[in-house]
Amino acid sequence: MQEQGWGRARVLEALKATRDEDYTFVDGEILGSMCTAPHEIAVAAHAQFLETNLGDPGHFPGTARLEVEVLADLAALFHAPQGAAGRIVSGGTEANLLACLLAKAATGKSQVVLPASAHFSFEKAARLMELDLVHVPVGRDGRADVEAMTKAVGPKTALMVAVAGTTELGLVDPIEPLAWFCQENKLRLHVDAAYGGYLLPFLADAGRTPVPFDFSLPGVWSLSADPHKGGMATIPAGALLVRDGHAWDAIAVASPYLSTRTQSTLLGTRPGAPVAAAWAVHRHLGRAGFASVAETCLDNAAYLAAKLRGLGVEMVAAPELAVVTFRHRDPSALQQRLQGHGFRVNLVTRMGAVRIVVNPHVSRATLDRFLKALPACL
Ligand SMILES: Cc1ncc(COP(=O)(O)O)c(C=O)c1O
Repeated sequence: MQEQGWGRARVLEALKATRDEDYTFVDGEILGSMCTAPHEIAVAAHAQFLETNLGDPGHFPGTARLEVEVLADLAALFHAPQGAAGRIVSGGTEANLLACLLAKAATGKSQVVLPASAHFSFEKAARLMELDLVHVPVGRDGRADVEAMTKAVGPKTALMVAVAGTTELGLVDPIEPLAWFCQENKLRLHVDAAYGGYLLPFLADAGRTPVPFDFSLPGVWSLSADPHKGGMATIPAGALLVRDGHAWDAIAVASPYLSTRTQSTLLGTRPGAPVAAAWAVHRHLGRAGFASVAETCLDNAAYLAAKLRGLGVEMVAAPELAVVTFRHRDPSALQQRLQGHGFRVNLVTRMGAVRIVVNPHVSRATLDRFLKALPACL
């Protein structure tokens, strides 16, 4: 740290110059991220709640109520039954870690059966909790292979995982048969809807065929969804809901000097600002608003995929949600060339592919600019 402090203007100028080095969502530069530009009302709400700490909610009863209300919205959206309970967490990773911790605490077992397409956050869970991860190869369609998943289960299994919107392809696993299997075999099923959680509930409103994925399936034990992805809240905001709310007691840690008796999230000090942001977007958009955003994203993804096919580009899988992943003989070189045109796409190295996530900030105009630049880069 330098000896003397800088004036305010100098600090802010330095920060502005630094921020200008970053790419942005709003200018349509970032095309491969699971996150998106926070909604304008989320930004305003976040600014109002900057000092709030949900780790010590006695000081912030208003903010604590917002958490309860966001969770109630999500419980209703995902058809959670009476008695379910959730927590707002820092994102999809914390939600997956907690789902594993809850299952391990409830069963005393440490094996997790999951499709090979599951997010790498489970690797972190495995390291932290000494879990035995059984990665099951996906089927030819890129989704969890039901038969192979059920065969992988054994007496040591604490948890099965299914993904509702995979990170690489945006595919939804066949959750219904997996949930029935788990129900019949008294096994816990965690649905990772970090990405799909704000799209799947609106498929019917968006003119698509609904896909069962949530607590309406009796075998679904827990479900995560990220307000800081499709919920257009500010970072960091994830959510984990558990069918049997009492399950949280098993991982609760006494927090003696705070205004709660216990905590059961990984974070201690927990930001209230993104929770206020999520609440603001929920109230401002309502179901109809989210459905309209979902429809636009799905339509734009279908548009992009059709145009890419027209250019002779091969999709890894037909887009189910709003992830468009296509093969290229040299994805890194393509990524570099696109960056030269101001577009940041992500690599899916193990598939020799490039990924675009058609999130709310990715407009039709942006896609048209991208499609104009693409042929010279291919
Ligand atoms: C399916 C899925 N689960 C979990 C995560 C992790 O979420 P986060 O990066 O918010 O921790 C992601 C991130 O992209 C994801 O796609």
